[in-house]
Amino acid sequence: MPRLAGAVKRLPSLEGFRIAFSMHLDPKMIPFVEGVLARGGAAYLTTCNPDTVRDDVVEHLCAQGAEASAYRGMSMKEYRAAADAALEWEPTHLCEMGAELSAARARRPGGGRDRGSVRGSLEATGSGISRIRGLDLDYPVFNWDDLPVKEGLHNRHMVGLTAWHTFFARTGLTLHEKTVLVIGYGDVGAGVADSAKAYGAHVMVAERDPARRLRAAYAGWEVAELPEAAARADVVATATGADGVVGAALIDRLPDGAFLLNVGHRPGEIDVAYLRSHDHREIIPFVEEISLGDRRVYLLAGGSMLNLVAGAGDSLNAFDVTLAVLTEALGFLVHEGSSYPAGLHVLPDFVWRAAVS
Ligand SMILES: NC(=O)c1ccc[n+]([C@@H]2O[C@H](COP(=O)([O-])OP(=O)(O)OC[C@H]3O[C@@H](n4cnc5c(N)ncnc54)[C@H](O)[C@@H]3O)[C@@H](O)[C@H]2O)c1
Repeated sequence: MPRLAGAVKRLPSLEGFRIAFSMHLDPKMIPFVEGVLARGGAAYLTTCNPDTVRDDVVEHLCAQGAEASAYRGMSMKEYRAAADAALEWEPTHLCEMGAELSAARARRPGGGRDRGSVRGSLEATGSGISRIRGLDLDYPVFNWDDLPVKEGLHNRHMVGLTAWHTFFARTGLTLHEKTVLVIGYGDVGAGVADSAKAYGAHVMVAERDPARRLRAAYAGWEVAELPEAAARADVVATATGADGVVGAALIDRLPDGAFLLNVGHRPGEIDVAYLRSHDHREIIPFVEEISLGDRRVYLLAGGSMLNLVAGAGDSLNAFDVTLAVLTEALGFLVHEGSSYPAGLHVLPDFVWRAAVS
């Protein structure tokens, strides 16, 4: 990862800074966290999704000096306790994907204005940014999702590609002659739709925002209504970051043999509890067959982010850009960024440009 290596070299000393992470703990994160430790920072690792934790990655990073409270399959109670433990560790800065630590801090007595140890935070996801908007925090949070080099590359181009690669690998099927319903037409949904078409599918898009529905229509997609469109879908892919998008009403219309998958941040986009209230069994790894009367539908990766839980996520070359931007952002955050006013800011251009120039 040459861009990341360059960004780590430019990283200022992190001596005296305590950084609590809430992120996907997969092997691609290793060189980034090692870079933080090498520059003298202290690191506390928690996950933003228990389904994506690689225990060997956590073990490796702890052997390098990080502390951690994260393991694959931790319960929601353990997950929340890990966020509390990260705050007890008194971090100076947060590095988040989904704002779990900021939300935990806001839940404490005194809320997000308890004058705790945190001086600033980075947030990488649309879901986390929506969450931050509802919190009253006493530190600046830098949104590095809405950047042309993050959302415009990773979200727009990599998620769809890697989600379909994972679909092919896990099911043994391709998309030829299949109708795919993409729900949510942000950058992620647009990439999921483009890749599905490139791999041979007929694509329908469902989107609740009228401007984005128009954008989908102008891109040439069939814009469909829920839940009616579900009756024509061989594969339903959610990409919204919202809970309860695919509920019982939609599931009950799916044709026999339909697949359900999610790439959005929230594991609750698909009503997995409703599906699992019927007869179900894992027929091959990451593929659950659910019997709904005389129909069978297939849930991939338990409704969690398919490309990360059942696949390897972004390519190394693409993630090199993402991690280089994150590294530049962290160097900015611990110094200049911490003196910005409390509240949400988009990461300034001069910070991330160094990563891609
Ligand atoms: N799997 C991955 O590797 C990966 C990578 C990046 C982002 N993400 C996640 O993917 C999700 C989407 O990212 P984005 O950048 O496109 O976000 P976005 O917020 O720009 O787009 C989401 C879209 O979903 C729509 N939506 C929300 N609820 C809906 C509903 N009930 N029905 C129809 N449409 C609905 C919204 O109107 C919005 O247009 C986020 O949760 C993000 O964190 C996943």
